[in-house]
Amino acid sequence: MSNVLITQEQIQTRLKEIAEEINSKYDEITLLVTLTGGVYTAIDLSKYITIPCRIEFVKISSYGHEQNAGIVQLKYCSIERGEHFKNLMIVDDVFDTGNTLDFLVKYINNNFTYDNLYTMMLLDKPFRREKDMDITYVGFTIKDEFVYGYGLDLKDYERNLTEIRYV
Ligand code: IMP
Ligand code: MG
Repeated sequence: MSNVLITQEQIQTRLKEIAEEINSKYDEITLLVTLTGGVYTAIDLSKYITIPCRIEFVKISSYGHEQNAGIVQLKYCSIERGEHFKNLMIVDDVFDTGNTLDFLVKYINNNFTYDNLYTMMLLDKPFRREKDMDITYVGFTIKDEFVYGYGLDLKDYERNLTEIRYV
């Protein structure tokens, strides 16, 4: 099909590159994965990670329009309050307005402690940024378009596609 933006091979190659950096830089890592969009990225990334790796999950919901996460709320977190992490890495599907990540970092800072906090966003869409932040690892920077597949949903479906497509 013609609307493929990033192929399965491109995604996996990039995740391997990022995993190799992670393997060479840290001696252990906890991936804090956002449900549901970050799951595909995190699970595939974790398969290329060879250092001790723990996986935890958070679910954050946005209110208002599905493409505009202006108001966000935490719905679930698999980590107990007060836990300490050596290397904690947030993994999410897309860094768009930045509201989700901004909320999550504040939540983490209010509830856990860590030595190092890192971020890994599969996609960076820099055009609608409201809350900016330095991202440790970006998979791909894309233009301002709505995409789906590989974790990203099109009206709740299509997350299971192995590639990323544009509408
Ligand atoms: P934020 O705008 O950076 O807070 O990102 C909020 C959320 O909007 C992301 O986690 C995605 O769930 C969703 N989102 C943003 N852009 C897209 C897209 O192109 N396709 C599917 N979901 C998106
Ligand atoms: Mg998301």
